[in-house]
Amino acid sequence: MYIWIKQLHVLTAVISITLFVLRFYWKWRGTAVMQRRWVKITPHVNDTVLFVTGIVLIYLTQFYPFTVQGVWMTEKLIAVIIYIGLGHVALGKKAPNQMVRSTAFMAAILCLYFIVILAMNKIPLVMG
Ligand code: HEM
Repeated sequence: MYIWIKQLHVLTAVISITLFVLRFYWKWRGTAVMQRRWVKITPHVNDTVLFVTGIVLIYLTQFYPFTVQGVWMTEKLIAVIIYIGLGHVALGKKAPNQMVRSTAFMAAILCLYFIVILAMNKIPLVMG
């Protein structure tokens, strides 16, 4: 059961990153694809599965955030929250201009890099 949940988590993580990059590209090009129903719905469905499998993995592995053995998990969750915020700026309607959008996108990619490094190594980067 653990291995299936973990594979689903990694698969949805890959889909999430791919859709994020694609959506930024489509928005930047101003293509009509962004208006399609599946482009609006799929990321939310996928990210819900990513989040739920993440919660189940915490329970199965006992890497609880805000505990001594789960410091990397705490850092990963903080990075996920920052990533979500930056993603909203990069893809949302609120960004004042393309410069702000692009900066938020690049910072979000940097966040994803830290998220994956933390998930794979399970060694804290800052609080260790
Ligand atoms: C952008 C969001 C996320 C990405 C890209 C991501 C990515 C990954 C990856 C690639 C792994 C596998 C590491 C390995 O091969 O050992 C992993 C493991 C894990 N993730 Fe995530 N994750 C994300 C969000 C979350 C969230 C929101 C949670 C919890 C609520 C979570 C909890 C976990 C746990 C507990 C593991 C450890 C599983 C294990 O190695 O036994 N993840 N994550």
